[in-house]
Formats: sequence, structure tokens, C-alpha cells
Amino acid sequence: SLATTFLDLPLTNPLMNASGVWCSVASQLEALLESESGAMVTKSCTLEPRDGNPEPRYRVLDGNKPWGSINSMGLPNEGFPYYLRYTERHDYETKPLFISISGLTLDDNLAMVDSLKDAVTPAILEVNLSCPNVPGKAQLGYDFDAMDTLLAEVTSGYGQRQLGVKLPPYFDIAHFDEAAAILNRYPSVAFVTCINSIGNALAIDINSESVIIKPKDGFGGLGGDYVLPTALANVNAFFRRCPEKAVIGCGGVKSGQEAFLHLLAGATLVQMGTALYEEGPGIFARVKAELLSIMAQKGYENLSDFQGKLKTL
Ligand code: DHB
Repeated sequence: SLATTFLDLPLTNPLMNASGVWCSVASQLEALLESESGAMVTKSCTLEPRDGNPEPRYRVLDGNKPWGSINSMGLPNEGFPYYLRYTERHDYETKPLFISISGLTLDDNLAMVDSLKDAVTPAILEVNLSCPNVPGKAQLGYDFDAMDTLLAEVTSGYGQRQLGVKLPPYFDIAHFDEAAAILNRYPSVAFVTCINSIGNALAIDINSESVIIKPKDGFGGLGGDYVLPTALANVNAFFRRCPEKAVIGCGGVKSGQEAFLHLLAGATLVQMGTALYEEGPGIFARVKAELLSIMAQKGYENLSDFQGKLKTL
């Protein structure tokens, strides 16, 4: 069985969308609800609606191998009240819902947290510390002092209710140590989602000798195959360092194999971004079946038989 729990909530399986993919408008959210995902999350929102960056702003990289995507969406979204309204009518019996917020300023984040605190919805809050695509706005997760300040204010503004943070990828052991030490000072930060895209990559087309997305002279966040080992490193690094928190894995998952690797590295839930964008919500049924068949081959009955049990040499 793929059944699991997250923050004491039962889920039929550990798969969900990555924020940003198939979750910007009600019709997409309804498709995720109808899909075989175990949970779902809304598009990161700002206080006010935004159009985002000029197009083209998402491109898939190669159809074959390696494979991935580059994006610089720039936080196009319907604005916080739209997603708040969705949280008020979501069918929580079918699957848990996360709401992702990505305020342009600390005050905007605090305003959204304040209205969520008073809203009587069971949606789980994920605070995005890692959007790489708004010109002029640094990724909070790379500024440890700003991250600490934000966590202090957000956890207190949320009345110590449980919440999680979406982190950017880190590439240095000292940074894993420092980020985890900060997060561990906030017990109400109950989960971390690792990773957001590898920010500010540059994809170039050799034929046209040109960048392939319009915003930021072609710089954008990388997803897909390219990011899997970085994602697994971040999942496992935070799994080891934050024993009181859950880790949600995201990055490079397109089949049961990568989902298995994320779970083995310590993820409790596993998100799909690029692969969901390319394949649509039917992907959840496929990846579920593949994960079950890998487990059957290995003689595992439940996720707890291997979750977090990565071996070292
Ligand atoms: C966007 C991209 C991200 O990686 C993110 O975390 C939030 C928003 C975007 O460009 O819309």
C-alpha cells in the first residue's frame, strides 16, 4: 500500500504536484482533486494578482535525455483571496490541501499569514522562501538573516500553528548546517520542502544561437532530470539535520524510480513539477503504479519499510 500520513493527516499515497504546476486556477485545482494524487498545493501567491513575466517564460529542454525545463514565470497568480476562497471549498475528505504563499515583502507575507490564521480552513501553509524569478527580489532562503527574521515573524504571526517552508537548493555543507540550525529554532515549522528549481540557469539553443525564454535575458529556474541529484542531496541533508520535521521531496521526479529515491532519502511526500507540466494530472496514476511495482519487486509492503532508510558505505 502507498498509504501514509503527513502531520497526522491520512493520505492514500505520497504523490502531489509541485507548487506552480497545474494549480493556478480553479479548473486546474479541480483536475488535481480529481486526479490520483495524494495531496495538492496551490500556486504560490502574492497579496495582489500578477500577470508575471513576458512570454515565452517556460520551455522544456530536449525531449529525451537529459531532460528538464527552464522557467521564469515571475509569479503570475490570481492573488491571495482567490486561493483563500479555494481553501474554503476544497474537499478535504478526498485529499489534504496546501496553500503556498510568496509575498513580495515581509509585510505582504505577514498580511496573508494573518488572514489565514483567522480563516477556519484545514489547508496547510507552505511559505515559499525560494522564488528565483521576480526581477530585483533575492531568494530569501539564500539570505540567512532575512530568513531568520521572516521565520520569527511568520511563526509568531501564525500563533505557532504548524507550517512549512519551500527551500531553494543548497550546494555547500556549511549552508545545510546553517539553514537547518535556523529552521530548528522554530518548532512550529513542521516541514521543509526541498527543492525549488535551481535558480538562474541559462539554456541556449545552438541553432538560433539564442536564449530560449524571454525574461531576464534567458535566465530561469531549472527543473527535471538535471536537478534530481541536487534534490536528493537536499532532501537527505535536511532529513538528517531536522529530525523533528517532515521533508517533502521535489525535483526530477518523472516515474516511480525517482519517487522511490526521494522516499528512500527521507521524503515523506514527493512532488512533481516539470513532469506534471508535460504529462498532465494523469501522471499520478502512472507513477503510483510504478512505485507499487518497484516495492513489489523489492518485497516492500509499505512505505515505512524503506522511507528514510538510505544506506551509506
Ligand atoms: C515562480 C517560480 C518559483 O520557482 C517559485 O518558487 C515561485 C514562483 C514563478 O516564476 O512564478
